[in-house]
Amino acid sequence: MHYLYSFPVLFSFASVVSASNATVDLSWYAPPSTKVSDLKSVINGTDTWGFVFNSSKTPAGLPYSTYNWCNMPHVRCSEYPNVDPSYKLQYVHVIHRHHKRTPYAANTFPRESYAWDCSDEGLYYHAAPFTGSNANSSASTYWSVFTSSSNPLAPQGFNGTCQFPQLTSGGLDDSHQHGKDVFGVYHDLLGFLPSKYDSRKMQFRVTNNVITSQVASNLIPGMFPSLKGDSIPLMIQPNSIDSLEPAYTCSSASSLFSSYGAGSTNANWTAHLTASSNLVKALDAISGISPSATAWHQSYDHYFDNLSARLCHSKPLPCNSTTGTCVTQAQANQVFRLGEYEYNYLYRSAGPQTLEYARRSYGIWIAELANRLRAAQNGSDPIIYRHDVAHDGSIARLLALLQIQEMVWPGMGSEIIFELYEQRHQWFVRILWGGRVLRSSSPMLGDQVDMVPLNSLLAYFDGLVGRGAVLVPGLCAQS
Ligand SMILES: *[C@@H]1O[C@H](CO)[C@@H](O)[C@H](O)[C@H]1NC(C)=O
Ligand SMILES: *[C@@H]1O[C@H](CO)[C@@H](O)[C@H](O)[C@H]1NC(C)=O
Ligand SMILES: *[C@@H]1O[C@H](CO)[C@@H](O)[C@H](O)[C@H]1NC(C)=O
Ligand SMILES: *[C@@H]1O[C@H](CO)[C@@H](O)[C@H](O)[C@H]1NC(C)=O
Ligand SMILES: *[C@@H]1O[C@H](CO)[C@@H](O)[C@H](O)[C@H]1NC(C)=O
Ligand SMILES: *[C@@H]1O[C@H](CO)[C@@H](O)[C@H](O)[C@H]1NC(C)=O
Ligand SMILES: *[C@@H]1O[C@H](CO)[C@@H](O)[C@H](O)[C@H]1NC(C)=O
Ligand SMILES: *[C@@H]1O[C@H](CO)[C@@H](O)[C@H](O)[C@H]1NC(C)=O
Ligand SMILES: *[C@@H]1O[C@H](CO)[C@@H](O)[C@H](O)[C@H]1NC(C)=O
Repeated sequence: MHYLYSFPVLFSFASVVSASNATVDLSWYAPPSTKVSDLKSVINGTDTWGFVFNSSKTPAGLPYSTYNWCNMPHVRCSEYPNVDPSYKLQYVHVIHRHHKRTPYAANTFPRESYAWDCSDEGLYYHAAPFTGSNANSSASTYWSVFTSSSNPLAPQGFNGTCQFPQLTSGGLDDSHQHGKDVFGVYHDLLGFLPSKYDSRKMQFRVTNNVITSQVASNLIPGMFPSLKGDSIPLMIQPNSIDSLEPAYTCSSASSLFSSYGAGSTNANWTAHLTASSNLVKALDAISGISPSATAWHQSYDHYFDNLSARLCHSKPLPCNSTTGTCVTQAQANQVFRLGEYEYNYLYRSAGPQTLEYARRSYGIWIAELANRLRAAQNGSDPIIYRHDVAHDGSIARLLALLQIQEMVWPGMGSEIIFELYEQRHQWFVRILWGGRVLRSSSPMLGDQVDMVPLNSLLAYFDGLVGRGAVLVPGLCAQS
């Protein structure tokens, strides 16, 4: 492949020519305007556009594909979009966000009006030597969170027996069901995965944030029930270079993000904060969050996590015990609309910066994926199935790079699947989002990302990040 361009102007992606001499278009394409990007609908609406925020179970009567923050739709036998049998499935790469959890401590109020109890599960941490059958055995030790009357300090946020964050038992159940459903498709329906776990054919990967391992430990027995209690390797990169989370440093990506996103004074970003300033005043008065607490006021991220985590676990909206005022459902709904709007803006609507940000901050994972697809095509990789458990930031960057048409905040369990097919020695990729074919604004991927020639997809990835992500270190070093 030859690159016919340089980067004279930031964000101006030119076309390149691929090995097959088809033109490769690396431009950002504006997403269509929808309710999620419409500030009027966000500020003056009342409902949540039919999105669910209060249970892992989408109410009967709503389609399975309904946006459910607590438990997003994923592939399942009953809804799986079938492929013409002349296409042979050759490789599958799944990536999804972890399932529902307690909030991050940073997103909890200074004083919570109720405790949160997690004593129905253990967070197991142990290490065991591999050296043979006569090695000293290790115990399956787990964490038991406690406070003591001799420790006069109150924990940030909730009292109780949870870590903030940790997967809740409901989130572990959702992880287990997710595994069952994926296996239902790729084993029961398609006969692609073997019936038993086989480390030579499949790999699971996690990030350095322990909540992704908590998901994997329940997801995998969901797929392979006979595995209960067995040891399974989880692939993980050193924290400093982890491409999946992503945790690698890319300073130019961070400064680019802060020029248009949370924390910036860019009027395109601050418009929704200004228009909703009464809401945030009302929330501060209930929560006791100081009006000068920057993190709570430069975006709705903290209030969104704070309120949605309660509702997903059937806990009440918070009240102020002094004034007796509680957060109303209408206020919570507005926070949820604003959060969705923020992700829509940050990862798609803001402009070409979103694609630039994604290729810098997620380019390494993309290059790893491209390499997996190539290896599957040339038959050099025995692994036919990879499954990565990640975060909303991972999924959001990937959706930005794939130029999804309607960007939303990737909820708990949000899933993207890359399926590689062969038909008469031609290779194709289909991308599923929420169990359905992804819709993209980039003509490189097509309106429906359904049987895109592998070479086109690789040319798009290579053009953006370089083979082996060779472009990324240079891009990250730009000032
Ligand atoms: C692409 O174009 C170049 C120059 O015109 C030509 O030499 C090459 O054979 C073409 N490659 C393919 C795969 O068609
Ligand atoms: C919301 O409605 C109010 C009152 O009708 C109006 O002044 C305001 O401009 C609307 N906000 C947006 C963002 O459209
Ligand atoms: C969830 O919210 C919807 C809409 O506000 C409401 O109709 C439904 O009863 C709620 N469900 C639960 C389980 O609280
Ligand atoms: C919500 O924020 C309050 C205030 O910081 C905190 O006490 C509480 O723990 C948070 N709750 C959640 C679910 O994040
Ligand atoms: C078990 O631990 C002891 C130390 O208590 C160590 O000396 C010994 O080598 C270990 N045994 C094996 C088989 O690893
Ligand atoms: C939480 O614990 C602290 C002491 O650790 C106590 O002062 C506070 O009242 C407790 N809050 C609740 C809601 O139980
Ligand atoms: C705001 O958005 C408009 C329309 O997308 C764009 O033309 C303009 O450059 C943006 N302003 C800034 C400061 O980014
Ligand atoms: C309750 O509201 C009052 C008045 O807004 C505020 O000063 C206080 O911090 C809040 N208390 C709690 C426990 O959140
Ligand atoms: C197959 O592709 C992989 C990934 O690009 C590469 O590392 C490997 O050398 C290739 N093997 C063969 C036999 O072409």
